[in-house]
Amino acid sequence: MKPAFREIDPAPVRVTVRFDGQDLSLPEGANLAAALLAAGVVSLRDTPVSGAPRAPYCMMGACFDCLVQIDGVTRQACMTEVSEGMEIARPTREAADD
Ligand code: FES
Repeated sequence: MKPAFREIDPAPVRVTVRFDGQDLSLPEGANLAAALLAAGVVSLRDTPVSGAPRAPYCMMGACFDCLVQIDGVTRQACMTEVSEGMEIARPTREAADD
């Protein structure tokens, strides 16, 4: 499926990150949530209660729907810049309860 979002910069410097075990080439310094959406990642986490998939919504740090684990630390993807070698995972239920 073609991503619903696209990058504005036609030739960004790209770096490799790993999301849920898959290598992705993302623009260095870009907003991580936006870069993941443009790369075709539709859902970043599931809710701990119902298991419903969640995706970035507000893109300004208010809704927390973009929570991911980056190098083992739970963070908001929309408040994080892409950098080389990031290990990104969907939050575990224990991390989401923190
Ligand atoms: S998208 Fe709402 S806090 Fe990140």
